[in-house]
Amino acid sequence: MKVTVGVIKADIGGYVGHSSSHPRLLEKANENLEKAKKSGLLIDYHVTRCGDDLELIMTHRHGPENARVHKMAWDTFVDGTKIAKELKLHGAGQDMLSTAFSGNVKGMGPGVAEMEFEEREAETVLIFMADKTSSGAWNLPLYKMFADPFNTIGLVIASNMHNGFTFEVHDVKEHKKVNFNCPEEIYDMLVLIGAPSRYAVKAVYHRDSGDIAAVSSTQKLSLMAGRYVGKDDPVCIVRSQGYFPAVGEILEPFAFPQLVEGWMRGSHHGPLMPVAVCQSNPSRFDGPPRVTCAGFQLAEGMLVGPRDMFDDPAFDDARSLANKAGEYMRRHGPFEPHRLPLEEMEYTTMPMVMKKLAGRMQEL
Ligand code: F6R
Ligand code: MG
Ligand code: MG
Repeated sequence: MKVTVGVIKADIGGYVGHSSSHPRLLEKANENLEKAKKSGLLIDYHVTRCGDDLELIMTHRHGPENARVHKMAWDTFVDGTKIAKELKLHGAGQDMLSTAFSGNVKGMGPGVAEMEFEEREAETVLIFMADKTSSGAWNLPLYKMFADPFNTIGLVIASNMHNGFTFEVHDVKEHKKVNFNCPEEIYDMLVLIGAPSRYAVKAVYHRDSGDIAAVSSTQKLSLMAGRYVGKDDPVCIVRSQGYFPAVGEILEPFAFPQLVEGWMRGSHHGPLMPVAVCQSNPSRFDGPPRVTCAGFQLAEGMLVGPRDMFDDPAFDDARSLANKAGEYMRRHGPFEPHRLPLEEMEYTTMPMVMKKLAGRMQEL
């Protein structure tokens, strides 16, 4: 019998500013999900946070995009928003773009990643969660995990992985998708996924079995709302071990703190710093962007865990490099490439400034 593993997440209020989450929001979410587990809707759950994002990790038997599961998650965000308003947390209800639930949280503000599969003899699942960055931030790490032999030696020396993986890539602006078979199509694929603000890896499949290996949230808040409402702060679920990359091969890409979009006012490039959950409190210049990882073994859908996967001194150098790269970027102040190009910035005064300058702008 298939199990569904899903993460539904939203920023429904920050504490303090956009730096972290108030414990009462996590308490309320735990209370609601416990009820959902007792009622049989969920097999199991784990509530956590990454920075100011509330993360609902859930297992059940109802398949992705199940209306009852999505409604329960939505109601949990609504309940949390009430508490956030009572405490006057910053940006209370920020990601709740709709006022009424309409069958599915997709397009309503929250981010979603869900996958359904037959649980293996031992089923290792890693859940990545990011704050102060956009969907598309998983492109580079997913490429390294599933297509780069310098990262994943299993692609070279494990016979059950040697035929490679298929990547499902979404054009988030034109709402199109295309599949690439790797390794033979990596050059074509990199043309697209090297531009993560437009193309995002939605899912990865094991070619021999067709089994799902990874899925990410690709919702773009700014495209949904048509205005700046905070960064997407995406999530990604990755299956591990056996004919999927080992835990260490999946974590390895994060030893390099790649530059991502986000950070202050969602309008800067900065390094993605891998941290333990307790350190996911982006505060320097509202950052730098963070990624956390909760690891689980599944047992008939029960979430055995989490293990806080970046709580390891082996990632100290990545954090230190992120701080150095962050400092280097910060020295550019309001200049590109620290600041995003004009068309990518989430906050802008450009129309206002151009209006003011209209009378003074002369032909060359
Ligand atoms: C970035 C982020 C913060 C805010 C900044 C201003 O994703 O959430 O950097 O953009 O703190 O926040 P507001 O406009 O809410 O005062
Ligand atoms: Mg926020
Ligand atoms: Mg956030």
